[in-house]
Amino acid sequence: MRVAAKKIRRPRIPGEIVIEQSRDAALLARMLGAAAMTTAGIDAPGGCFLAAFDGAEAAGVIGVETRVDAALLRSLHVREPLRRRGIGAALVAAARLAAHTRGARRLYAIARADAAGDWFLKRGFSPESAASILAAMAGTPYREYLIATCDPAGLSGFALDISRDGVIER
Ligand SMILES: CC(C)(COP(=O)(O)OP(=O)(O)OC[C@H]1O[C@@H](n2cnc3c(N)ncnc32)[C@H](O)[C@@H]1OP(=O)(O)O)[C@@H](O)C(=O)NCCC(=O)NCCS
Repeated sequence: MRVAAKKIRRPRIPGEIVIEQSRDAALLARMLGAAAMTTAGIDAPGGCFLAAFDGAEAAGVIGVETRVDAALLRSLHVREPLRRRGIGAALVAAARLAAHTRGARRLYAIARADAAGDWFLKRGFSPESAASILAAMAGTPYREYLIATCDPAGLSGFALDISRDGVIER
């Protein structure tokens, strides 16, 4: 007997923020395109993207790419009218969990020096040399995009130790 797989999706309620893993390349491309952010490598195997929804409306996005025991955040964006409601922090928390699940012990972020650097520092990240992050993430799509398009001197790097995530202290 063949059993058809049935997708069960909770109804989305306006005003309620929900974060879901997304493989909807068209949606991701639309959101990143509207924010003038790169879509390079968004459909590469191994990447993981998460989208935030306010009801049915896409509110924000983040991606995470992993290599051995390191993970790099990418494509963090929250739509302007929905900012300052904790959606950015919730996206990073969800991406952190995704990175940990994929075996990462270090979570990295890279921002243009004039972008959201302080934002990562306020959320527990420490400054880390962008060059060493780029070396650690060799071969991952977003790292390759950065190497091809940016001067590493204009990038700021951030790191968070996630090696103890999920450890229960007694
Ligand atoms: C950075 C960003 C994702 C934050 O999203 P958000 O949903 O507003 O985040 P949160 O609600 O969790 O946090 C908001 C807080 O961050 C602060 N913040 C926002 N942008 C900031 C920045 N560039 N630098 C420092 N702090 C910033 C806000 O002032 C707010 O502070 P408060 O809580 O003390 O009022 C959003 O501003 C964004 O999409 N920016 C443009 C894209 C970008 O810079 N992405 C990161 C590139 S690596």
